[in-house]
Amino acid sequence: MKYFLTTAIDYVNSRPHLGTAYEKITADVIARYHRLKGDDTWFLMGNDEHSQNVFKRAQEQGKDPLAYCDEMEQAFRETWAGLDISFDDFIRTTDRRRHFPAVQAMAQACLDNGDIYEGTYEGHYCVGCEEFKPEKDLVEGLCPIHKTKPEWIREKNWFFRLSKYQQPLLDLYARQPSFIEPEVRRNEILRFVEGGLEDLSMSRAGQSWGIPLPFDPKSVVYVWFDALINYAAAVGLGWDQARFQSRWPADLHIVGKDITRFHCVIWPAMLMSAKLPLPGQVFGHGWVFFKGERMSKSLGNIVDPLDAAKRFGPDPLRLYLTKEVPYGADGDFTWERFEEKYNADLANNLGNLVNRVASMSERYRQGQLPGSHAAFEPLATTAEASLMAYRDAMERLALHDATAAAFRLISATNEFVASQQPWALAKDPARAGQLTGVLYDAAEAVRIAAVLLLPVMPKSAAEILHRMGDHRPAADLRLDDARWRTAADKQILNTGALWPRIEDKGAIVVSETPTPETSTPAAPAALANVVTPEAPAAAAPAAVAATPEAYITIDDFMKVELRVAKILAAERLPKSKKLLKLSVDAGEPTPRTILAGIAESYEPEAVVGRSIVIVANLAPRPMMGLVSQGMVLAASLDGGPAMLLNPDPAVPGTRVR
Ligand code: MSP
Repeated sequence: MKYFLTTAIDYVNSRPHLGTAYEKITADVIARYHRLKGDDTWFLMGNDEHSQNVFKRAQEQGKDPLAYCDEMEQAFRETWAGLDISFDDFIRTTDRRRHFPAVQAMAQACLDNGDIYEGTYEGHYCVGCEEFKPEKDLVEGLCPIHKTKPEWIREKNWFFRLSKYQQPLLDLYARQPSFIEPEVRRNEILRFVEGGLEDLSMSRAGQSWGIPLPFDPKSVVYVWFDALINYAAAVGLGWDQARFQSRWPADLHIVGKDITRFHCVIWPAMLMSAKLPLPGQVFGHGWVFFKGERMSKSLGNIVDPLDAAKRFGPDPLRLYLTKEVPYGADGDFTWERFEEKYNADLANNLGNLVNRVASMSERYRQGQLPGSHAAFEPLATTAEASLMAYRDAMERLALHDATAAAFRLISATNEFVASQQPWALAKDPARAGQLTGVLYDAAEAVRIAAVLLLPVMPKSAAEILHRMGDHRPAADLRLDDARWRTAADKQILNTGALWPRIEDKGAIVVSETPTPETSTPAAPAALANVVTPEAPAAAAPAAVAATPEAYITIDDFMKVELRVAKILAAERLPKSKKLLKLSVDAGEPTPRTILAGIAESYEPEAVVGRSIVIVANLAPRPMMGLVSQGMVLAASLDGGPAMLLNPDPAVPGTRVR
């Protein structure tokens, strides 16, 4: 089935923030869910550039407006990439090939159908809202949203006959109640339209920043009339009729609650006038506040979503925003609450479960769990129920309920492991079959939860699936893969802790600009780009930390678990000039495998028996078909040969601090 969804297009007068990111993340969850269902999904996003505020910002910076918008596009794309937003298309309203012809075609169609006429307008115009404000809506003469005094504008304008569409719109809402969701927004819009509609000024005179009207090139199209058309422009309106017919109408417009009126009233009226099909649904999501306040530059409380993504990977933020904010209602974000939920949902619940299942499977069964046994019924039933609840919630766009359904399965599986006590079963050879069954069932439940979480936490869910022995690309997985299956054998990989707990409360600084890299703890290694031992040495070493931000605290240092280890065996890797594969004794029951970038400095035989220092709590990392379980400390001058450190104490496992 075809599924076409869109988000609002963002004004580019400032960088994306947590609020705009919230919309894109939740829309991305929906897009990924539809791909998981097997729908032919098309996810559109973009930038809204013909706003007066954008023009002003470019002027303030002494930049050509288009050059400014090009720069901002990069900032937006960088943020969306950092948050794993999987849009299929990105449109800008300055796109002359696609957007200009669409806007001009639409304006012409509305004119041809008798819905555009010339008149004079005077009124209070709020540039922040890009909207004329009726006198009655002002509070002490100020715009209630922006708290600024609107400009008084009197000019010759072109008007769109919005009033004519009052009844057709009311008929639409009655015929298709799901056109506006959630219900609270539908009621707001109904009340507004029932109150009567005024015609809309759809042009601005004497401005150059905008799209010229085809029938009055001295006027440009009003920014909202222009912006709404992006949805149809992207798929061919006015420039590729065949493409337009195959993609239009959109099934879902995701927008914030502040702009539902434009999408539920003006946009369908424009489409009706141009005799084009109407979208399936407009969903007006709530707002995300920071500590209960609207994020704004003047309050200095703008949260940069990339900050959270850089620290923890994108998935913890995606999870927080999807699970903690009921979709459609307002939500709140604080770093304290984010950390709390991270520790509860990821470190303690999901992460702990994956680690337990993987490490016990490795310890007791070398990672091999044969299939074809009778499943533990209550867990299999919980998994089926979670899938059903998840699907039902996703179809209703209750993203928070869907995510909670996946987490119910995770909690149930943790309880299952605790009640079955595999560690006790392992002591009794007579219960070997039972132990295998428990590990298998737990791994199966984890696998199912990971399939359900693919839309919300794409990277982490794929990583978990990989550990549970499913190596297919995520794009090949379908919702049906979340059914309980017991036939296939499983090969479980134990590659280390996924989400270390956040212990350093308060260490996170809220700022508009990203915190300096030096004070930023890295994202969990398994889920972020890590520096490999083969990576070139860092640039010129800083002599002494110069600024307070460049220091780390003793707590930061203590997070790195340095230990003495002894090299038991070493060999070259056929495919690498730089790496030696080491087997080291770090004072643990079994030796570790570490791939160290010292092959250009040492022959393998020369290092066997040496004592070294390793980073023992570095997340294990798959490399060259092996898994490196730590890092060896070595010194090198200006990228020269790596020389091993030689500790005096030689007892493996001794902590270095
Ligand atoms: N350019 C218009 C939309 C045109 S759509 C044809 C616009 N841009 S915006 O940059 O101000 O907002 C973009 C989207 O982000 C809107 O849907 C808006 O509701 C949403 N959000 C902006 N701040 C938000 C929060 N704090 N929380 C949640 N969503 C928020 O409006």
